[in-house]
Amino acid sequence: MAQNEELIEQTVTFVKETLEGAEAGHDWWHTNRVRNTAINIALKEGADLLVVEISALLHDIADSKFHDGDEEFGPKIAHDFLKDKPVSKERIEHILQIIRHVSFKNSFGIKTFDSLELQIVQDADRLDAIGAIGIARAFNYGGFKNRIFYDPETPPQNYSSGNAYQRSNAPTINHFYEKLLKLKDMMNTKTGRELAEERHQFMELFLKQFYKEWSGE
Ligand code: ADP
Ligand code: NI
Repeated sequence: MAQNEELIEQTVTFVKETLEGAEAGHDWWHTNRVRNTAINIALKEGADLLVVEISALLHDIADSKFHDGDEEFGPKIAHDFLKDKPVSKERIEHILQIIRHVSFKNSFGIKTFDSLELQIVQDADRLDAIGAIGIARAFNYGGFKNRIFYDPETPPQNYSSGNAYQRSNAPTINHFYEKLLKLKDMMNTKTGRELAEERHQFMELFLKQFYKEWSGE
């Protein structure tokens, strides 16, 4: 157990250093929230806690959208970090698979990997994309990309592929319809679904208020 605690400590230090200066929606604090939510779900669902915690900590270590679309960059960095740590080969392979498959844009194609631990980290990551934090993250990302809040002339789209979704330059409000409001029904676990409910309702309320103020009411 003590060995695991040391591993977690080392992973935390590594992730903090690596994510120094990252966009606020994909920084250490996002990682830490996903970690806490994932542990919370894992305790209820009875999963491999070490795999869940390490995967959550490493899941955004090198997001492909900040690395020219390189999908293997994150798993490679995670592998280099874990290879001489006291973790079994099986667990390392499982963690790398979770990092590869956790992302929303990879949910467009056919599922090529699944596990309870992946489902939990994915739910925790998605929960951080909705609710009050989700709203803050969306507008921070939109600002980071210099996008406008809203354009009544640009309706939301239904993306058919992960690539098209990522290339979109649409106003930030569209992201709520293209992704954020869909997440509640995409939760994998019962605990995830329960946690999503309140956050989803909060976004609905936010949007209602947003349009009210937009029209000068
Ligand atoms: P994933 O990391 O699961 O592949 P994304 O990186 O696309 O998903 O989204 C992570 C978060 O980044 C979103 O929840 C949102 O906060 C922000 N984000 C991504 N794309 C957009 C966008 N087009 N507009 C606003 N926010 C976005
Ligand atoms: Ni994430």
